[in-house]
Amino acid sequence: MSTLAGKHIVLGLSGGIAAFKSAELCRALVKAGVTVQVVMTEAAEHFMTAVTMQALSGRPVYTSQWDTREANNMAHINLSREADAIVVAPASADFMAKLLHGRADDLLSLMCLARPLDQVPLIVAPAMNREMWANPATRRNVAQLKLDRVHVLDVGQGDQACGETGDGRMLEAEDILEDLEAFFAPKILAGQHVLVTAGPTYEAIDPVRGITNLSSGKMGFAIARAARRAGAEVSLVAGPVHLPTPRGVQRINVQSARDMLDAVQAQVSQASVFVATAAVADWRPDAQADQKIKKDGSGQTPALKFVENPDILATVAQSARAQSGALFCVGFAAESHDLLVHAMAKRIRKNVPLLVGNIGPATFGQDDNALLLIDAAGARELPHASKLVLAQQLVADIAARLK
Ligand code: C5P
Repeated sequence: MSTLAGKHIVLGLSGGIAAFKSAELCRALVKAGVTVQVVMTEAAEHFMTAVTMQALSGRPVYTSQWDTREANNMAHINLSREADAIVVAPASADFMAKLLHGRADDLLSLMCLARPLDQVPLIVAPAMNREMWANPATRRNVAQLKLDRVHVLDVGQGDQACGETGDGRMLEAEDILEDLEAFFAPKILAGQHVLVTAGPTYEAIDPVRGITNLSSGKMGFAIARAARRAGAEVSLVAGPVHLPTPRGVQRINVQSARDMLDAVQAQVSQASVFVATAAVADWRPDAQADQKIKKDGSGQTPALKFVENPDILATVAQSARAQSGALFCVGFAAESHDLLVHAMAKRIRKNVPLLVGNIGPATFGQDDNALLLIDAAGARELPHASKLVLAQQLVADIAARLK
């Protein structure tokens, strides 16, 4: 469920080597259901052809304010009036300087100046050499553009086409897309700080072995992503999983249940919502061997003894802030059968206002899921969908409860 579907976006390209990423961005926007109208400056055409952008957007590209295709010869008015947003990517240092001064000597800058300020947001993805980005002129321009209601995206960091390394790379297409999703998403969690646990924990037996489980972390990562899109500040305490950190989310990696509890306790005083999706190991070996336990050929197996791990959710849920309502706690239950009965009992045992049930074996590692939301009043089903869609629905449900 993309918030971008059905939107009409003018994708402006100014001159920069990062223009190759704009081709990918254009394709991703079209795939998300966006109508993309590409507008290119003369400088942009040195880096990318209008033919490429036309083929990817499925619409003729505009490059000149003198374009006679428009009956009234006012492409800058017509194109900006039908847009839900103008996204300039790459936005060169020169183009931003031009915007700042309200100069309008080509179609793209003319269109930015002519856009109705209250209806058509302008979002720019800067792209330049690190010295250009650090230059006081650019710093000043970025600060002023923000005051002028231009939404300036972050820049990336790393190797630059010039051979130097530093800040100023244009964000990758997928990051710009995610920022656009967040830009258009209703900010139903604005002002909230959401703390999420996700993934399995790993309980070491010796330096090379341990016990863990099949949780992939995907549901928790999707909730972190949806909460960030909804305007929350998000901290994600993640067990060992191979998932990229959702954009704009602070991630803390942990291994064991005790590490996870420590990380949660360090964060939770800032949080207003706690969502425990992690599949925390119920037990850990009572002692971790310092050295690898060796097979001695006798056929004897080591005798492992287990102790119970702390219950992170129950610990947090009984804190004074949770009890007073300052911290809203949400638990998860992964069951294999009798979901409703087990999940209802678990909500009461964990002492949380909302518990989300799902069938563990059916969801672990999958990209989709189905959820059962259980509170004191009863149960509500969120039918089978992608984890991101379910996460967005859960976030909307939580936001409604916070009111
Ligand atoms: O008891 P059970 O593991 O089924 O409970 C699941 C819920 O409790 C999940 O929200 C899970 O993240 C949380 N939990 C926890 N610490 C544990 C065990 C479970 O936070 N040690």
